[in-house]
Amino acid sequence: MQRSIIIGRPTITFDTIDSTNDYATSLVSNSNPNEGTVIWAHYQSKGRGQIGSKWSAEHGESLLMSVILQPRFLMAYQQFTLNILASLALRSALASYEIEAKIKWPNDIYIGKRKVCGILIQNILQGKSIKNAIIGIGLNVNQDRFDPLLPNPISMKIVAEKMFDVSDVKSRVCQHLQHFYHRLREEGFEVLKEEYMNLLYLKNEVRKYEIKGVEGEGEILGISDLGKLQLKVEGEVREFNFREIKYLHK
Ligand code: BTN
Repeated sequence: MQRSIIIGRPTITFDTIDSTNDYATSLVSNSNPNEGTVIWAHYQSKGRGQIGSKWSAEHGESLLMSVILQPRFLMAYQQFTLNILASLALRSALASYEIEAKIKWPNDIYIGKRKVCGILIQNILQGKSIKNAIIGIGLNVNQDRFDPLLPNPISMKIVAEKMFDVSDVKSRVCQHLQHFYHRLREEGFEVLKEEYMNLLYLKNEVRKYEIKGVEGEGEILGISDLGKLQLKVEGEVREFNFREIKYLHK
């Protein structure tokens, strides 16, 4: 990464697109876009969420963007570093609007008990390193009506009781991503991991989880270097992948 990389330069803007992540993926496979290129859309007809789910948002009311990075200094086993980078950047972009949020492992952004932002990271590997990363961000900005099937959505507007300029929010998110990307290179993974842990939703609280299909109580202690969730269950510290654990409390 060059010091001069600017997240958001260029920004390719669409009114409507299927998915900014899909567009970014095809851009990376068909050309050689600048590191820091952002794809921004006002509406997605096939927005993609984690584990094959859909991500939908009303036209112009949310921030829907994907950032293309070339983090070749990261090895494939260090992929979780990008979840940390994106989560910290989104949390601090919200803090710049005086909105306090937490990070729900692995990379959801929560205000209180409700989700304000989802992040979908897709990595393209080359040998043992990460050739390209596509960081897809769906941030609820001005939306105040949501699909009733969504368990717990919230938006910046609902919490702050005012509207925000989505373009301004996009610029701030880019600035905060740039800041943390620079720090990642300069200070390394450990410092950012520490910050991430301090902002972890429900850390050190005993709550109900579905653990590998079985309901039980657990207490989040932190994350491993590979990004697994460390949970104390019946006095024993165990590590889990994303698919192995479900938060049961509302
Ligand atoms: C999640 O399920 O929490 C992740 C949601 C990620 C949604 C964003 S919106 C912009 C980008 N393009 C997509 O198709 N998905 C991501």
